[in-house]
Amino acid sequence: MRISIFGTGYVGLVTGTCLADVGHDVMCMDVDADKIARLERGEIPIYEPGLDAMVRRNVEEGRLRFTTDAAFAVDFAPLQFIAVGTPPDEDGSADLQYVLAVARSIGQHMGDDKVVVDKSTVPVGTADKVRDAVQGELDARGSSLTVDVCSNPEFLKEGAAIEDFTHGARIIIGTDAERVRETMRECYGPYNRHHEKLMFMDIRSAELTKYAANAMLATKISFMNEIANMAERLGADIEQIRRGIGSDPRIGYHFIYPGCGYGGSCFPKDVQALARTAGEIGYHAELLEAVEGVNQRQKATLFTKLAQAFDGDLSGKTIAVWGLAFKPNTDDMREAPSRALMEALWAAGARVQAFDPEAMGECRRIYGQRDDLALVENREQAVAGADALVICTEWKAFRSIDFAWLKQTLRMPVVVDGRNLFDPQAVKRAGLLYFAVGRGDSL
Ligand code: UGA
Repeated sequence: MRISIFGTGYVGLVTGTCLADVGHDVMCMDVDADKIARLERGEIPIYEPGLDAMVRRNVEEGRLRFTTDAAFAVDFAPLQFIAVGTPPDEDGSADLQYVLAVARSIGQHMGDDKVVVDKSTVPVGTADKVRDAVQGELDARGSSLTVDVCSNPEFLKEGAAIEDFTHGARIIIGTDAERVRETMRECYGPYNRHHEKLMFMDIRSAELTKYAANAMLATKISFMNEIANMAERLGADIEQIRRGIGSDPRIGYHFIYPGCGYGGSCFPKDVQALARTAGEIGYHAELLEAVEGVNQRQKATLFTKLAQAFDGDLSGKTIAVWGLAFKPNTDDMREAPSRALMEALWAAGARVQAFDPEAMGECRRIYGQRDDLALVENREQAVAGADALVICTEWKAFRSIDFAWLKQTLRMPVVVDGRNLFDPQAVKRAGLLYFAVGRGDSL
């Protein structure tokens, strides 16, 4: 089956590559000529385990191609995926300008009937806007061609995107047209072999399903962080509480890890956008606003704990930071807790010595060269000469350390652990002061 995908960002590239991998003939279009040229050479703009080899294989075998020519991509296939970005506007609502520009482009160039698939995370009602945008162009040129729009939200996690695409729990398709069902069945057939994963529903429900899923997951995290903050003050241990409540199958063990707040390109943006959508229809989404508020506060706790350990004066101190990415197995630093920490440290006159296995280039890109930021080559160098250590990301390589060595190396024996990686007793036995999340006895 021929498929065109607009947008070669995270979602578009993973979707296009995984669809090509099962035999579809895929054309990926992007307006960024440099990006397309790099992709054609097999250079992948993002860090995602397994993706580079998969892209190269499918390019070599001729099933995955790239173009900057919108007219060519529109003409190429009956199925047109829109997977361009929807960055938040200043007010938190999703900016649809890129999605609608693609829709208009499809309307301008289509020479036969099309099915347009919204893959980007878009607010409820966007499919109608996409349809109107395509139809507007068709009307303008007096065309009687037809377009069907369907919502097919993605549920990929960065760092596990290929696994999530190939073995996802469900494939949500929002449509009101029978022929769209058939087309989408054919498209996803190769990934729907063992049991029925396709869930057909109306378009608005599909659009809202995506936001509801992310908002629910974000709620679980903020809830746990709230309880962790209480546990800390009550002398209780959130890690024991987590196991205690996770054992109830109605709650479950997934996504109840407390930490230094959720980041990334999805949860912060989607929770805000959903709250914004609520506002637009005159509904005050109190829970969503609280989820966001708790998360903002949680990101600030790394700095607060550090400042307390240094009696409020961090000026002139050097702080080692382990982990810059918003989570392991990605180089993405969007909304990462490390950023809130570093920016607060700089404002307080401290220096940062940071190491991350993948996100150093991204950090340099965001912050550039500055005297109060040293990006070093490994975790040991980050700690050398530092006054204290803060762990922001739970990369595997940080999970085991020689506490005695750490005690000897740090100028002050202060470890702030935003991911609860260690047994507080073991850290304390080495003579370190350990500030974890929600572990009363570690204070
Ligand atoms: C998230 C969802 O998990 C995906 O299902 C969804 O498709 C994606 O957003 C999206 O909308 O595109 P992602 O942002 O890649 O995926 O990352 P997650 O693994 O969900 O982690 C998000 C944040 O939550 C991270 O900062 C992580 O550290 C934090 N987190 C996660 C916790 O603090 N505690 C947990 O128990 C789990």
